[in-house]
Amino acid sequence: MSLTFAPPARQQIHSKIAHSVGVELYVLRLDLIHPWVNGNKWFKLKYNLLEAKQKNFTTLLTFGGAYSNHIYATAAAGNLFGFRTIGVIRGEERLPLNPTLHFAIQQGMQLVYLDRNEYRQRNTTALHEELKQRFGEVFIIPEGGSNLNGVRGCMEIASEATGFDYICVACGTGTTLAGIALSLHQRQRVLGFPVLKDGAFLTEEINSLVKNYLVSGLPKPSNSPPSWELMCDYHMGGYAKVNDELLLFSQQFRQEYDIPLDYVYTAKMFYGVMDLLQRGFFQKGDRLLLVHTGGLQGNTNS
Ligand SMILES: Cc1ncc(COP(=O)(O)O)c(C=O)c1O
Repeated sequence: MSLTFAPPARQQIHSKIAHSVGVELYVLRLDLIHPWVNGNKWFKLKYNLLEAKQKNFTTLLTFGGAYSNHIYATAAAGNLFGFRTIGVIRGEERLPLNPTLHFAIQQGMQLVYLDRNEYRQRNTTALHEELKQRFGEVFIIPEGGSNLNGVRGCMEIASEATGFDYICVACGTGTTLAGIALSLHQRQRVLGFPVLKDGAFLTEEINSLVKNYLVSGLPKPSNSPPSWELMCDYHMGGYAKVNDELLLFSQQFRQEYDIPLDYVYTAKMFYGVMDLLQRGFFQKGDRLLLVHTGGLQGNTNS
């Protein structure tokens, strides 16, 4: 199984506000590493795919909503690396399929629907056993690729962050942030931008991901305890909520810097960073790396 994807590019943003504050802004274009399996999705999937291969599984089963970037990427990665894939989708089937699910079945993914109550059981052994009875031996990847293999993969994102003072990333489950934070150097900080309302609850989740990783027996980082902080005021009303300000910001950002942003994750983080710049959060001389975590397929559904 070849895991060679294009190396991510770093693109400098020459914004007026960054120049006036004396801050350097770069974007880590993880959205460009592959047309379909890109962004943080690739990093979260990588070690799950490797473990599945090593254990001789031929089928991957995972969970997601109808617009899920993770479902999209798992379907494509499964197809690329020779796995059968099953996507367990939250809610009822709606026809015609939206572009995300249409793509998933084109990649060979079998879709199964669970009503919202059943779907809440997605992390339980009972449901996993039921799914194994139904589909045979399947390698189960949790929703969003949010497990310790996911954290391990995201630690590799930090190798692109040498020389930066701040690494900024959008947060859903916080898995990506946990991985980045675990392998940063001393004095570097990660700023996480939760895209859900009341995102402060992620603090506990991230702490336990970090703690569980460190006792897991997976390769340890050589660095000191991670330093990270959540910026909880940029959710724009909650998960997948978009307002006119965010839409306008994304359009202008694309025009000025030729970088497309997705509305669910990256647009909110980029908006937040620009706002923090205006508010004087950063110091002269700071170097910022904004992680473009992909997710652009989601824009095709809007
Ligand atoms: C495009 C994009 N960016 C950021 C995130 C947030 O990642 P995490 O759930 O690891 O915090 C996700 C969700 O996985 C995503 O799809």
